[in-house]
Amino acid sequence: PRAPRINPSILAADFVNMQRDLARIASADFAHVDVMDNHFVPNLTFGPQMVERIQATSPIPLDVHLMITDPERWAPAYAELGAASVTFHLEAAADPISLARRLRDIGARAGVAIKPDTPAEGLYSVLEEFDQILVMTVEPGFGGQGFMSETMPKLRALADEAKRRGSTVWLQVDGGISDATIEEAAAAGADTFVAGSAVYGADDVEAAVTRLRDRARA
Ligand code: DX5
Ligand code: ZN
Repeated sequence: PRAPRINPSILAADFVNMQRDLARIASADFAHVDVMDNHFVPNLTFGPQMVERIQATSPIPLDVHLMITDPERWAPAYAELGAASVTFHLEAAADPISLARRLRDIGARAGVAIKPDTPAEGLYSVLEEFDQILVMTVEPGFGGQGFMSETMPKLRALADEAKRRGSTVWLQVDGGISDATIEEAAAAGADTFVAGSAVYGADDVEAAVTRLRDRARA
């Protein structure tokens, strides 16, 4: 199988030393960028203006995770500024398929995210509309929370279904991913791993990325 992708979440970076902290993850696959609007989630980060500068500065492509209401209005701007992937929440989208098609038309990979309590079955018949599915392994909103093992049966069922249908969709997990939990998520079928505190909280950020990748492969 392909090497697992490790996407460090810059939510755990130092926001006033973003250029330095982006340079530290040059060996990772994508920089995971959490956009929060203090409405879909009770926290606030940054919007397109900041992400445009991150895009210009990052040594690796951006994986934008939109935790916002009304993604139809805002998501295309992130694709237009050059993000490699743009993921919106299924719970927030009025018409997820047409939004995914718009994102692909602009040239981004289209992702859809589901919160821990949101079932995945509704996505089974439309997997080909998406390039990645993000199964949240914490309630979205904050870094540093504990991994929710109870989301693993949903991930496993999704992985089985994708395999059965010959889908190449990437299966991403986000929240509480660490040396202690990444193997469990990999065993359940994830191939793309977001990690914030486990990467930026480490003494050696680059070594943390390599270690997570090795564990996900094991
Ligand atoms: C949470 C964000 C995550 C967050 C993960 O809502 O979507 O990307 O940065 O942080 P950790 O890895 O610390 O749980
Ligand atoms: Zn995220």
